[in-house]
Amino acid sequence: MLFPSLYERLERARWDFNSIDFSKIDRSKVDEHLIHEIKHVCLTEVGSIPATSMFMRDFSHDIDFQRFVSVWAFEEGKHSLVLEKWLNAVGVDIIEEEMAKVNITFETAPWIETLTMHFLGEQRLGLWYGAFAGIAPGAKENPIGEPVLRQILELMAQDEWRHAGCYFAFLKEAVETEPASLENIGKMTLWMLRGQYRHPTNITQPSIMEQLPDPGYFAPMIDRHVTPASMKVMEKRVLKCYELLAKEPIETQRDLAKFLRKKFGARSEEQLATLTLN
Ligand SMILES: [Fe+2]
Ligand SMILES: [Fe+2]
Repeated sequence: MLFPSLYERLERARWDFNSIDFSKIDRSKVDEHLIHEIKHVCLTEVGSIPATSMFMRDFSHDIDFQRFVSVWAFEEGKHSLVLEKWLNAVGVDIIEEEMAKVNITFETAPWIETLTMHFLGEQRLGLWYGAFAGIAPGAKENPIGEPVLRQILELMAQDEWRHAGCYFAFLKEAVETEPASLENIGKMTLWMLRGQYRHPTNITQPSIMEQLPDPGYFAPMIDRHVTPASMKVMEKRVLKCYELLAKEPIETQRDLAKFLRKKFGARSEEQLATLTLN
């Protein structure tokens, strides 16, 4: 059972709304463009609701994971709420219909690929929010100017990195139980790394992003704040995690592809190519 220790880890780091002083918002650093982007980040966070439904529906065989998801969903709900509070404080409301639109139904999810996709997704969100807040390694050049929002995004980035750690704990357990799952974890890891904007909210059919008023908002936002150096740091961190699972040195995407071919045969790379085309 992983849930008891993961819960403690999350509980120890838990922040509350009282630590954020919305009266300190610097209005001179807020414009329509920033409001548009933060409204979209908030709606994207609401996308954790359909993901939670999917986890609860498709992974009922794993009560340990289900118990973790109940806390994960709580923390993600906090993320959309804290951004909504910031938007309210600058005079912007999100209407309920816009939130409800995000609540789509996902296809049945394959266990190990979904876990891997979420592990990568949380790493990437940590990177993105960390860059928006100016705390991600190698991403200090161009943070968002409004200080209260920066504080919120820093808290969110740290939560997302912790979530990645929790998903990794479940991946580790999966490999210990079934070593062959290394193949699908490796293929999904490589596929996710090969597209710099890939995230669970934009790669499914239908996707969360497609439900938003401006589905393309995130790429320019990421381009503005996230540097190639910080992307490399995230990639290194992800490959280090795979190395721990594989118990072989894996430093680059090429190393991972080579490992998959050596361990699971050429088919592994072919299937990856198919996955990329879909
Ligand atoms: Fe979140
Ligand atoms: Fe998260």
